[in-house]
Amino acid sequence: MYSVSTSADTQKIAMLRAAMPAVTRAVYLNTGTNGPLPRRAYDALLAFARSEFEEGRIGQPVFDRFMNLLTETRALVAELLGCALEEIALTHNTTEGMNIALLGLDWREGDELITASSEHEGGLNPAAVLKARYGARVIYTDIGLRHCDPLEALRGALSPRAKAVVLSHASWSTGAILPLRELCELAHRVGALVICDAAQACGMIPSNVYDLGVDVYALSGQKWLCSPDGTGALFIRRALLPKIQNTFSGYFSLKQRVTHAATPIEFADTATRYQYAAHYFPSVQGFAETLKWLRDEIGWEWIYRRTHELGQYAYDALAQIDGVNLYLPRDQIAGLLHFTVDGIAPADLTTKLFEQKILIRHVPEPALNRVSTGFFNTEADIMQLTAAIRALRK
Ligand SMILES: Cc1ncc(COP(=O)(O)O)c(C=O)c1O
Repeated sequence: MYSVSTSADTQKIAMLRAAMPAVTRAVYLNTGTNGPLPRRAYDALLAFARSEFEEGRIGQPVFDRFMNLLTETRALVAELLGCALEEIALTHNTTEGMNIALLGLDWREGDELITASSEHEGGLNPAAVLKARYGARVIYTDIGLRHCDPLEALRGALSPRAKAVVLSHASWSTGAILPLRELCELAHRVGALVICDAAQACGMIPSNVYDLGVDVYALSGQKWLCSPDGTGALFIRRALLPKIQNTFSGYFSLKQRVTHAATPIEFADTATRYQYAAHYFPSVQGFAETLKWLRDEIGWEWIYRRTHELGQYAYDALAQIDGVNLYLPRDQIAGLLHFTVDGIAPADLTTKLFEQKILIRHVPEPALNRVSTGFFNTEADIMQLTAAIRALRK
């Protein structure tokens, strides 16, 4: 096999692997579930937790620190997505963002929501709630599956009753990178909003939300952004703030306390209006530190290039194995590869590789195995994977 790493890459990868011990304990090929934490996030999280323990969580300076941290983290996410600070709310995960956006629309019986059977429950389940609660008509397309042209499929599903299109930027179940810009253009022609699940995309591929044309982009910290649990963010296009109503509300939602019948209800001018539940500040600190580490010490361009190149490398390496069937064509994926191995059920392959400390996963529908290539993985990781599969095939 060829190598995709230059000598500069090799040095850099050694540095960042030293900063992410989890990737050296096993062959870490499942960032799509949870990315490895860098030391900087871990140290920041511990230091914050320790200061809460030793110095307490009350008093004006502490309160100011909390508020500044929330704003700083929102600004880091806004920079990554190329949007305005006002358009970002912090959430605890992708699913929360999907719920906020979907439940915030004014659903009437017969309104249509177009999605895909291969989507994650993070989008599918709020859609099911809309169906059960308001009689929304949910249309399940094959978008994301092979042999399905996403533009054709969306074109065929859209009607003037379409209110929202719920699709992932990168599919968790097939690895497909969807042509969001073109999909958004189609949806917008009939006035439907595109509510995008970015759990697998953000940190894996460029996520400039204005270029993509999405209306909503919900993301997780704990996957490709290698951040602590309970972190995430939601982009909502500024013009949509009045349209996506609050289902939940909390301290940040309103401009002033509403205590009397005559008090006007004024929503916050920014997407912070959707933040309603407290965050665990040590986790948020870890999220902010990781975003700075990825930006300043590794570099987003390098991360995207490396993830993609290693994905292509893994694709080529797997393709050489007799009995391995890659699900999608090579040019439709980035860092998530899906495949089957003849004679070994996906769940069994995950278990057998786990026994050899090779961490991958399987997905249910279509039943496939999935490998994630993170920017911290090496060609040697891929060679261990392919050698193990070859041996299992014998
Ligand atoms: C595409 C997709 N959406 C949503 C989720 C759920 O993420 P979270 O736990 O951040 O809500 C996942 C998790 O695997 C996912 O792959």
